[in-house]
Amino acid sequence: MILHGSDPGDIERAGLRLAAGELVAFPTETVYGLGARADADAAVARIFEAKGRPTDHPLIVHVADAPAAQHFAAQWPDTAARLANSFWPGPLTLIVARRPEVAAAAAGGQSSVGLRCPAHPVAQALLLAARAQGVWGVAAPSANRFGRISPTTAEHVVSEFDEALWVLDGGPCDVGIESTIIDCTREQPVLLRPGVLTREQLEAVLGQPLGTPDAHSPRASGTLAAHYAPRAKLRLMPGDQIRSALDLLGASPLKLAVYSRSLSKAPSGVLLRRMPQDAASAARELFAVLRELDTEGRQLIWVEEPPAIPEWEGVRDRLTRASAA
Ligand code: TXA
Ligand code: MG
Repeated sequence: MILHGSDPGDIERAGLRLAAGELVAFPTETVYGLGARADADAAVARIFEAKGRPTDHPLIVHVADAPAAQHFAAQWPDTAARLANSFWPGPLTLIVARRPEVAAAAAGGQSSVGLRCPAHPVAQALLLAARAQGVWGVAAPSANRFGRISPTTAEHVVSEFDEALWVLDGGPCDVGIESTIIDCTREQPVLLRPGVLTREQLEAVLGQPLGTPDAHSPRASGTLAAHYAPRAKLRLMPGDQIRSALDLLGASPLKLAVYSRSLSKAPSGVLLRRMPQDAASAARELFAVLRELDTEGRQLIWVEEPPAIPEWEGVRDRLTRASAA
């Protein structure tokens, strides 16, 4: 069931529903989330069940502001404080030590918790409506079934779950790929998942380089090799390779799609989608395009490798994972 994110009455009803321990899907600036009150293990269990997600995979807890984060954090290191000051509300998740008595199920049983203050006005309004009911945080993974592409519109969410799910509609997501995740539990903060914030931006605020995940880093399902996968086989290739492969192929019996920044034509029968030239626009449309190509029934998607520069790190990461499936 779709509710209107711009309707204060619908926001209030959604807040009450969360407080009652039910699920509500809602928009954030990155992707849509499937929310439940973070402080109720039974409510959180509904998320794992609906998604088909293993229960030891931790969820992100969404909060209205930095003070609300203190409700869940056992420690708030200087690195977390700096990052929150600069990038919250926004597309950034911080992993910090968890208060042992709160949100155990949401944290997948780990001693840490992932916290994010989203910037989307509908997410903000919902979090405030929930807080008015005594709910300090809303646990929400992306509102898709486990291992599939994250939804960036309310319609995407509806197509993933059954009719009964309440979905707050806030329009298409502006960022389009999931938040940047930084592990702040260690001396040197570690980038667990790249998003649209660049390493340079993050390191400038931190005043130190970001570390890379190692054997001691927390497990993160969004960092599994095969994730964010469309049904079609996706392959990443340089533009020149796509051009020569298309020349060889001629009129193709394959249901092939090409998603490219540099190609301007393709043989008949091959669906050509132009990838935007700038990284932010490419991120915004990426998941919707992959879904669309799936819906079209394409069996094969050849994607031109994005430029190997920092702005494209998040998009490159998602495409690399999608191609590993
Ligand atoms: O943009 C986003 O982050 C979206 C919106 C809805 O906020 N959410 C999202 O959630 O992408 P999800 O569950 O699909 O991905 C959350 C990632 C997972 O890779 C999870 O393992 C990691 O965050 N994570 C959450 N809590 C963690 C923790 N305590 N330690 C390590 N990783 C954690
Ligand atoms: Mg996800």
